[in-house]
Amino acid sequence: MSALLEIRDLRVTIGSTAAVRGASLSLDKGETHCLVGESGCGKSITALSVMGLLPRGAVRETTALRFAGEEIGHYGERQMERLRGDRMAMIFQEPMTSLNPAYTVGSQMTEVLRRHRGTPRAQAVDRAAELLARVGITAPGLRLGQFPHQLSGGLRQRVMIAMALMCDPELLIADEPTTALDVTVQAQILRLLAGLQKDLGLGILLITHDLGIVARVADRVSVMYAGEVVESAPTATLFAAPQHPYTRGLLSCVPVPGKVKRDEPLGSIPGVVPRIRPGFTGCGFRDRCAEATPACAGTIPRRDLGSGHEMLCVLDPGRDGKAAA
Ligand SMILES: Nc1ncnc2c1ncn2[C@@H]1O[C@H](COP(=O)(O)OP(=O)(O)OP(=O)(O)O)[C@@H](O)[C@H]1O
Ligand SMILES: [Mg+2]
Repeated sequence: MSALLEIRDLRVTIGSTAAVRGASLSLDKGETHCLVGESGCGKSITALSVMGLLPRGAVRETTALRFAGEEIGHYGERQMERLRGDRMAMIFQEPMTSLNPAYTVGSQMTEVLRRHRGTPRAQAVDRAAELLARVGITAPGLRLGQFPHQLSGGLRQRVMIAMALMCDPELLIADEPTTALDVTVQAQILRLLAGLQKDLGLGILLITHDLGIVARVADRVSVMYAGEVVESAPTATLFAAPQHPYTRGLLSCVPVPGKVKRDEPLGSIPGVVPRIRPGFTGCGFRDRCAEATPACAGTIPRRDLGSGHEMLCVLDPGRDGKAAA
């Protein structure tokens, strides 16, 4: 079976920043693939590349960008518009990115269906109400007549999810969909996505900072650093036997119940994500890496550790007896 989404060797340059530098990842139908990494490492730019929504002036190159078996890398804006909101949809950290303050929830939701499918208004309204109910919004009829500013943050987030689902997409890209929400609403939204995925078989590419969320919902995890996917593995493998020094650093920042004493600072990786210029070579993490060697300034090999576990590093996997699973 071919992957639902396959990104191979994605490169994005924005002015003097190499935002993404040869990232590859793939996602199957019904799978949740989490993309993690510190701020500025290229997660959103990767997502926007798939949707054809890169900022003006960004230059994108790929060896392959396939959606449902079809190469879409050469698609123009008209063709991408046809896919977006229909077969692939994206939800953003800030709902007002996709909600228009000037229109009611109902008119925005039905517009998506009418545009892509030519669905008659009454039918589109029914569908919108059904989806609002499905994302846990009570009195959907009332909400359809309201404007985004009349809704709380949690409700807007749900409306955005419902709107993204209007055309039954096959792929949903969620960029930090819960960061702005309080923990209870966060949990509700994640449960909701998991339920929808089970019912609809949709593939989800979920971008998050929160490794607790990753552990709960991801089938596979890709760790990005400075525009590269430095490690990718099935979730259980990544948590049990992380190999890349950056992944290990990230995981050591997660509090382990019972192991962290109160008032003790959590582990963190010293230093910041560098801004990488075009033409940069070698490992982007080497200045922060305790295990760096002169080889890290050269070409970094992609290592296949078996069972879908890969890393981009000169170090020997299993160097400390902690072999890949
Ligand atoms: N519109 C833009 N113009 C110029 N540079 C940009 C733009 N958007 C992103 N970048 C740069 O591209 C790189 C990757 O940014 P990106 O937004 O993908 O990071 P991210 O991993 O999503 O971070 P965060 O976790 O903070 O959302 C960064 O160096 C960023 O400064
Ligand atoms: Mg981002």
